[in-house]
Amino acid sequence: MREIYETVSPLSAFAEVCEWLAFKGWSEAEGGNLSLRIEEDELPEELTASVAEEVDLPLEVPELGGKYLLITGSGTRSRDIATDAATDIGLYRITNDGTAYQWIIGNNRPTSEMPSHCAIQCEFVRSRPEYRAIIHTHPPRLISMTHVPEFKDPKILSDTLLGLQSEARIIVPEGIGHLPFCVPGSLELGVLSAEEIKYRNIILWHMHGALAVGTSLNHALDQLEVVEKASEIYWTLKSAGIPTDGMSEDDLMTSMEYFGRTDRYKNAFKDKE
Ligand code: 13P
Ligand code: ZN
Repeated sequence: MREIYETVSPLSAFAEVCEWLAFKGWSEAEGGNLSLRIEEDELPEELTASVAEEVDLPLEVPELGGKYLLITGSGTRSRDIATDAATDIGLYRITNDGTAYQWIIGNNRPTSEMPSHCAIQCEFVRSRPEYRAIIHTHPPRLISMTHVPEFKDPKILSDTLLGLQSEARIIVPEGIGHLPFCVPGSLELGVLSAEEIKYRNIILWHMHGALAVGTSLNHALDQLEVVEKASEIYWTLKSAGIPTDGMSEDDLMTSMEYFGRTDRYKNAFKDKE
């Protein structure tokens, strides 16, 4: 069975992305976790045939009923996943009623952030099914942004950061969300994240880390790279005593129009009004 599991193609995407997260120093030690939703017909039959014990989920996810998740194991290291994804990533099936999961193969201790991964994946099936990848990691410059009191307001945070480089707002037009402090792995963190992700692709968890979503793991990673780079520019300017005003509104709007992002940019924080 292990040989069959190793042929599941998304495992190589996990390895590739985790190598990068480790290399960047964002997923230190056991920091960070990832998940990817897959359909039954994307898996070898041998894997979907097994019937395992049911483990109750901390929340009900009816839309995920009968779907499969690849999830990083709790306490696993990104740098280890890079070389042996099949050992550290588990394959799970969500029961038809969405109240429990069944472990199938690979790692059998899902991440402590399971509430966030399940709540967000459930929201995706409901509202944007092409989204199926989630990355949570600890990028240092982005975490530092959450220490600045005025950036608790996600509009101020987004307008400041995403105006510092000409392509940042094109890639992240809906801006960056920010959640108040929640205990890592808590149900509260999961429920709030799933609510905020309806409007955005990136959320900062106060004094903890970042969570990004995408149609693939690489899509989620792309957006993390862009906002972490914007944060690097922010802190570089700050430490040199240079103003962080960034692009003019005119230049930003011209870019938004050119790339067809005007509506997404203008509607970015309508949910907060
Ligand atoms: P896990 O090892 O349980 O995934 O926890 C890491 C983490 O970053 C929690 O937020
Ligand atoms: Zn974390």
